[in-house]
Order: sequence, then C-alpha cells, then structure tokens
Amino acid sequence: MPESDPVTPRGAVAAPDEPAYKALTRHLPEPRFVPLPGYARIDEARMLAQAETFYQTMARRRTTRHFSTDPVPRRLIELAILTAGTAPSGAHRQPWRFVAIDDPTLKARVRAAAEEEELKTYSERMTDEWREALHPLGTDHVKAHLTDAPWLVVLFAEKYGLRPDGSHRKNYYVDESVGIAAGLFVAAIHVMGLVTLTHTPNPMGFLRDALCRGTNEKAVLVMPVGYPRPDAQVPDLARLPLEAIVQWNA
Ligand SMILES: Cc1cc2nc3c(=O)[nH]c(=O)nc-3n(C[C@H](O)[C@H](O)[C@H](O)COP(=O)(O)O)c2cc1C
Repeated sequence: MPESDPVTPRGAVAAPDEPAYKALTRHLPEPRFVPLPGYARIDEARMLAQAETFYQTMARRRTTRHFSTDPVPRRLIELAILTAGTAPSGAHRQPWRFVAIDDPTLKARVRAAAEEEELKTYSERMTDEWREALHPLGTDHVKAHLTDAPWLVVLFAEKYGLRPDGSHRKNYYVDESVGIAAGLFVAAIHVMGLVTLTHTPNPMGFLRDALCRGTNEKAVLVMPVGYPRPDAQVPDLARLPLEAIVQWNA
C-alpha cells in the first residue's frame, strides 16, 4: 500500500514543532468540541450538604436476596439503564449492553439454568476458601430471587465491537467501564427506592445463548430488580471505615 494512502498514516512526517505522533492522525477529521453542558458551580456549603445527603442515601443501600413479586413499571428500569449508560468508558466505546427481562417464562428458564450451574459450583467447583468466604452471606444454589423479582436485568460486556463487514473493532478498558456502569445502575435502583442483587451465576456462559447475544459479548451480572419482601433480611455486615480505604498522599 502506498504511504500516501489516507487510512495508512504509517510513515507520516511531522511538521516542524509538531510532536511526531500528531502526524499519525492528520488523516482523521478534526475532533469536535462543545462547551461543557449544564455545569453550574455551586457554593461549598451546598456541595457539602449534597455530598453528605448522597453518602447517607448510598450508605443505606443493601443487597437483599428476598424480593417481592410486586410489579415495577418498565420506565423505572429504563431510567436505571439510561443512568448506567452515562458512565465514562475507555475511548467512549460504551461497551455495556443490558437485557431487561420481565417475561415469566424467560425468567424461569434463566433461573433453572443458573440453579443447575450453581448446584455444580456449590457442590463440586467451589474451593474451601471460597465456601468459607460465602458462608456469612448464607447463599446457596437456590435462586428464588430470579423468578420472584419482577425484572431481571442482565449486564453484558461487549468484549469487542463488530463492524458491518464482520471485522472486529477493539474496545478499551472493558471491565473497568462496565464495572462503573454497573455501579451507576445499582445507585440508580437504590435512589429510586428499589433493591437489586448483583448476582454472578458461575459460569455465566449459558446466558449468552439463552438471551441470544453475540459471541462478542460476555455476561457479567444478573441483577434482579424489585421491591424487597416485607420480611427481607440481609447479612449482618459492616463496611470498612474511611481510614481503611483511603491514603492521602504518599
Ligand atoms: C461482582 C459481585 C458479585 C456478586 N455475586 C453475588 C452472587 O453471586 N450471589 C449473591 O447472593 N450476592 C452476590 N454479590 C453481592 C455481595 O455478596 C454483596 O454486595 C456483599 O455481600 C456486600 O453486601 P451489600 O451489597 O449489602 O453491601 C455480588 C456482588 C458483586 C459486586
């Protein structure tokens, strides 16, 4: 291919005073910028009050495995997914895909497949160390929440994109990006007054087939969403204090 080919910048020569790497993107359109939208600086007292309120709200979030069967409007699920979709992502690839399920038959199929895998995990695959780590949470292979909750939201990570011609488009920092999106989803669900469970059936391969997703995607989390049952319980856990999770400077 000739060096002047517009999609092959290899060999591009930097102009004087231009860092050499800049020449490598000279064939691409100029990036477009807009003013930072919707930003209004607020005074420190209000910042503190808002930050305190948000923290106190999030500190009340808990994972429960006991869901009510009461229905939840689809718009609330849409809003949680839209919120998740505001996450930052490597090279803005947005490598998250959500499958929202309220079809009882499909939920039952996901539950049956998850329980089959989980039974093998709990009885055969789990190391003693892993079993001991899970013991305080009281979990087992029975996943009633997968059919009790009105919605199951399955989060897939897009490992790589697919161009119309079938070639692969690389995604960047997929795990980190999808993790942040999951965090925003969990926060949105909590702030709207619902509960969720970030559930990782192990292994997760069955979800790709059951939900007709492409081989470029990997299931990451199954999140039942709904109201807690009136008798919902949670394990008695404590969170690490600030000094255990932060270091200020070196
Ligand atoms: C990546 C990830 C995987 C998890 N997998 C499961 C799971 O498979 N089953 C389950 O019951 N809880 C699962 N959890 C929930 C954790 O057990 C729970 O978040 C933890 O015990 C802390 O409790 P909290 O969320 O109430 O603060 C998972 C959480 C995360 C973040």
